[in-house]
Order: sequence, then structure tokens, then C-alpha cells
Amino acid sequence: MDIHTTIASLRDALTPAWRAGADIGFVPSLGALHEGHLSHVRRARGRDAVVVCSIFLNPTQFGPSEDLTRYPRTPARDEALLRAEGVDHLFMPSVAAMYPAGFATRVAVGPLSDVLEGAGRPGHFAGVATVVAKLLNIVRPTRAYFGQKDAQQLAVLRRMTRDLDMPVEIVAGPTVREPDGLAMSSRNVYLSPDERRAAPALYRALTAARDRSLSSARDGEELRRIMREAVATEPLVRLEYAELVDPDTMEPLAAARPGALLVIAARAGATRLIDNMPLPDA
Ligand code: PAJ
Repeated sequence: MDIHTTIASLRDALTPAWRAGADIGFVPSLGALHEGHLSHVRRARGRDAVVVCSIFLNPTQFGPSEDLTRYPRTPARDEALLRAEGVDHLFMPSVAAMYPAGFATRVAVGPLSDVLEGAGRPGHFAGVATVVAKLLNIVRPTRAYFGQKDAQQLAVLRRMTRDLDMPVEIVAGPTVREPDGLAMSSRNVYLSPDERRAAPALYRALTAARDRSLSSARDGEELRRIMREAVATEPLVRLEYAELVDPDTMEPLAAARPGALLVIAARAGATRLIDNMPLPDA
């Protein structure tokens, strides 16, 4: 595995693959890798001739009061994990390499960026869209792999690549969970033992609402109530939102339908948790 810290070095290394028209799979991340990240790396390794990963703790997607400075960093471990998965190129640029003096462009993805996660995190999705647009232009992959775990991010990036005619296929992979249902996240290390025990309440809320939607409840308000009640059983978990939405626009739905998305966000202590679950397709 070759490690690149500059855009020029990665581009030089990828030139032969571009010229040969080889399939390039790209998995971007913030680092502090876990099995969720690695699931995308394995999917890429199984499909693409060349696999590129990036680890870049992108400051522009963190708000001023968010956890940028204490976000976990485990570069040596990340490097060893990616090497063991047979990754070809790891891109680890500095902030100055990605945002040199004078950098001024932002990619803003419409109303989709202003609801749910975007409502509480102004500028977050513009930060994500801008850095992913840059990374896709740097790597020029055939496919880029993202997690369903961050469903709104996925919707924003699908919208961006479609709207801007970016020649890349976006591949979504399912959420990887701990045995008790908690969605894996680099931020789970912040949880105290009690908070960790309470955190699977989000998954239980989602499965309760999904199961009821399959038997009796079609009404969106009833599904929201089922999720609220499931979370209320855990005093350590404070609900921020529980919604039934359209997976492409993130707009609330009045009634369940195949492919609709249940989304939930809460805080356990100071740690923010998000999760979601699609209703089965018809
Ligand atoms: P990060 O949080 O490191 O996540 C990198 C990728 O892993 C994202 O596509 C995310 O959806 C996916 N992922 C995270 N947890 C997962 C889980 N439990 N199961 C499956 N996939 C999971 O998301 C980002 O980084 C950044 O916003 C980024 C896209 C890299 C732009 O900076």
C-alpha cells in the first residue's frame, strides 16, 4: 500500500490506472476506522482493480462547538487495517494541502442540506459536499462507496454527483452494527459504560417502528410515536428527532410506503448518535 500526503503524489500514482481505463474504487473517511469503514473497503476490493482510501479529518464539516479537536485519531492502526485489506493507495493529506491559502469555493446542495442533521448543524453538508467533490476530482474513481448509516449524507452526495454530472457511481453499503444493534461509529468511544448500555435504544426504536409498519401501522405520526416511546424508556438517551422520511429528499412522509426511511437522532451525555432504517421495498 502506498501512502500519499500530497495531491500530486496520488495523481502521479493513479495516472497509469486512468490511462488504462481500470476500475478505481474509492472509500473516503475521517479515520478512526471500524468494521463499518472496512465493509466498504472489502466491497471495493471485491469489485474494482484499484482501491483508494482517504483519511482526512475535514475541518469544514465540523461546527465551532463540535468535536473536531477531540475526534479520535488512530493513524497507525488505520494504516495497518487498510494494508491488511489489500488497499492500493491511502491518501492522507494535510489541511493545508486540501485548503491552501485563498481557497474560496463551497458546494451547497439545496434544501436537502437544511433539514434533520442539517438543521442542527448549519454548514455541515456544504463542508461534506465540498470535500467529497474535491476528493472525487482528485481520485477520479469509477465508484465511490458510502454508508447507509449516514443516510442524509448519502442523499446529499447522490444529489451532488447527479446535479454536477460527476462521472462516478455512488455505491451504498448497509449499516454495520454491534451485536446489540448499536450502529458502529468512531464517536462511540466517547460513551461512558452506562451511556453505552443505553445507546441501543435507537436501534430498538427503529426496529419497533419498522416491525409495526409491516403489520398494522401505516400512519407516519404513529410510527414517530412508537420511536419516541421506545427511546423514552432510556433516561440517559435524549431524543432529538424521530421521523419517517423520503430517502431522496429527506422530507417527512404522512404514511409508510416501501423504501421509506425511518431516521432518528439522540444524545447520550455529550455524544450525538444517529441511526436509520429503510422500510423494505415492495
Ligand atoms: P466517516 O464518518 O469516517 O465515515 C466514512 C464512511 O463510512 C461514510 O460513508 C459512512 O457512512 C460510513 N460508515 C460509518 N459508520 C458506518 C457503519 N456503522 N456501517 C457502515 N458504514 C459506515 O462520513 C464521513 O466520514 C465523512 O463525512 C466523509 C464522507 C469522509 C467526508 O469527509
